[in-house]
Amino acid sequence: MKRALVAGGAGFIGSHLCDRLTEEGMSVICVDNLYTGRKENIEHLMGDPSFRFIEHDIRKPLSIDADCIYNLACPASPKHYQKDPIMTAQTNTLGVMNMLELAKANDARILQASTSEVYGDPVKHPQPEEYRGNVNPTGIRACYDEGKRMAETLFFDYHREYGTDIRVIRIFNTYGPRMNPEDGRVVSNFIVQAIKGDDITIYGDGSQTRSFCYVDDLIDGMRMMMDTDGTTGPVNLGNPEEIRILDLAKKITEMTGSTSEIIYFPLPCDDPSKRRPSIYKAWEQLGWKPAVDLDEGLKKTIGYFNTVLKRSEL
Ligand SMILES: NC(=O)c1ccc[n+]([C@@H]2O[C@H](COP(=O)([O-])OP(=O)(O)OC[C@H]3O[C@@H](n4cnc5c(N)ncnc54)[C@H](O)[C@@H]3O)[C@@H](O)[C@H]2O)c1
Repeated sequence: MKRALVAGGAGFIGSHLCDRLTEEGMSVICVDNLYTGRKENIEHLMGDPSFRFIEHDIRKPLSIDADCIYNLACPASPKHYQKDPIMTAQTNTLGVMNMLELAKANDARILQASTSEVYGDPVKHPQPEEYRGNVNPTGIRACYDEGKRMAETLFFDYHREYGTDIRVIRIFNTYGPRMNPEDGRVVSNFIVQAIKGDDITIYGDGSQTRSFCYVDDLIDGMRMMMDTDGTTGPVNLGNPEEIRILDLAKKITEMTGSTSEIIYFPLPCDDPSKRRPSIYKAWEQLGWKPAVDLDEGLKKTIGYFNTVLKRSEL
């Protein structure tokens, strides 16, 4: 049985990946320090003999047998990665090196969950992989943006120096069930506020755009990237369907039948005004493109939050 290690496996995306890998018949080792991840995300896998959870911080070395490694360990929302920026930077440097050392020791293929944030506030639109970005190295987002850029550098240096078999994907905004309702990401924020009838908070005037990828599509892309020979990446994975934040808020209000009002707050520092992937490479190299449109994905995500919020009221 092939052994897959998923670092950050108790998080939103990681837990969906653990599900997929166990469904495919792999033996899965989930490594997580539960900083933003939650045991309830992987509770249903705990009794499965092919699944193992290890509470561990990747900033410390780890010795374990694995055939392939997915590194998703890193808080992904600004609220959480800015809470302890030095820890975020360490996770993306020391932590990433520990994962690369593990891959080297096992002769394992390793995939890095990088991010569209490596493009910063882009002046090129949409963003192809060749675009080198517009990142503020001293700003409050730098621990994450520059951290992820350094992580990519380490991946490519291990590849050049030691021949490590690497895969780098740049994930654009992803949403779906198991997003943490507390972490301030736009889709979960709007849905929770709409269901509760609270004011919907928009930062800026809402004219900034984002593109949202449903989590099942992303997991398909990650699996394809891991299993495809002859490509290191970086490859963008995201949904190119672009929407203004104000229109997203209106759509969610309508879909939930909410009476919430929209209110506005100042835009946070270095918040990008546009974000949309070019997915030409993912299509050309992996044959991947997203299949779930925004309405369908939002319907499933709203269904999830309706259940979770009802349960928490009991
Ligand atoms: N969700 C998105 O839209 C998005 C976009 C771009 C990139 N990504 C990347 O994908 C990955 C997963 O994102 P997510 O949305 O599931 O976030 P998440 O916060 O839900 O998951 C991250 C997981 O990593 C764990 N973790 C953090 N630091 C750790 C450490 N030092 N040691 C061990 N575990 C640690 C957390 O406890 C959590 O379970 C992250 O690396 C993120 O940067 C996500």
